[in-house]
Amino acid sequence: MTSKIIDGKKIAESILEKSKQKAKKADEKPGLAIVLVGNNPASEIYVGLKEKKANELGFHCERFNLAEDIKQDELLNIVDDLNQNEKIHAMIVQLPLPKQIDEQLIIGAILPHKDADGFTSVNLGNLVNDNNKLLPATARACMELIKSTGVEIKGKNAVVVGRSNIVGKPTALLLLQENATVTICHSKTKNLAEHTKNADILVVACGKAKLITKDMVKPGAIVIDVGINRVMGKIVGDVDFDNVKEVAGHITPVPGGVGPMTIAMLLDNTLQAMELRR
Ligand code: GUN
Repeated sequence: MTSKIIDGKKIAESILEKSKQKAKKADEKPGLAIVLVGNNPASEIYVGLKEKKANELGFHCERFNLAEDIKQDELLNIVDDLNQNEKIHAMIVQLPLPKQIDEQLIIGAILPHKDADGFTSVNLGNLVNDNNKLLPATARACMELIKSTGVEIKGKNAVVVGRSNIVGKPTALLLLQENATVTICHSKTKNLAEHTKNADILVVACGKAKLITKDMVKPGAIVIDVGINRVMGKIVGDVDFDNVKEVAGHITPVPGGVGPMTIAMLLDNTLQAMELRR
């Protein structure tokens, strides 16, 4: 069997086009602030892509490039200014942050209705309560890509590899909302393959290049690869795409899968944040 490749770029383009139309019709420009601390090369690339798309959609986008050694109080002041800024409907603080900064403290300072990433305790708590408001963009991206296959989620075995607050946990909760039977695997999981081989839907977000091999995947499964790893100058996912595509039913490529969808979801969250303020 050769799987159907889920074209995240194409699906994202159609969502971005809808967002562009919504932005055009709105009586003010959707305002997104992007805060980047330091010069982590991967973060610089992600932030650049987010900023570029926001501008292409006609959003008001303000980017803040802050020094690696910024003091926590200074960063808190910037977040606070953005909370008060009428032109800014939503913001993101790109993670990871340097070690002198308490990430949870900074995320917690973002007003929940301006939290474009859906990372605040209020928004994650709403997700736990099945009261979805602003949801983490990557988790939303995974769900949209799974739904794009047309395969019913209800009753299926879903396995999420990775338990981060920004991808693994929220994706597991969204799959649970859709009545999948959900297993979360992580670095301490014993015999990972035993779990993954049982997955009708497999979401991999653990940051380990090509961890998931062909023998670990159930024939016909939907495989969503969130990983972005640089190996010998090439970007590869957490899934051994070339071989796994021979057994999976549907699979996302890297690049061109989850990445572009995450940006589309972030910008849709910004539009939602603008509506929330109204
Ligand atoms: N770092 C990796 N992914 C993300 C994301 O979706 N949002 C933010 N703010 N930081 C990240």
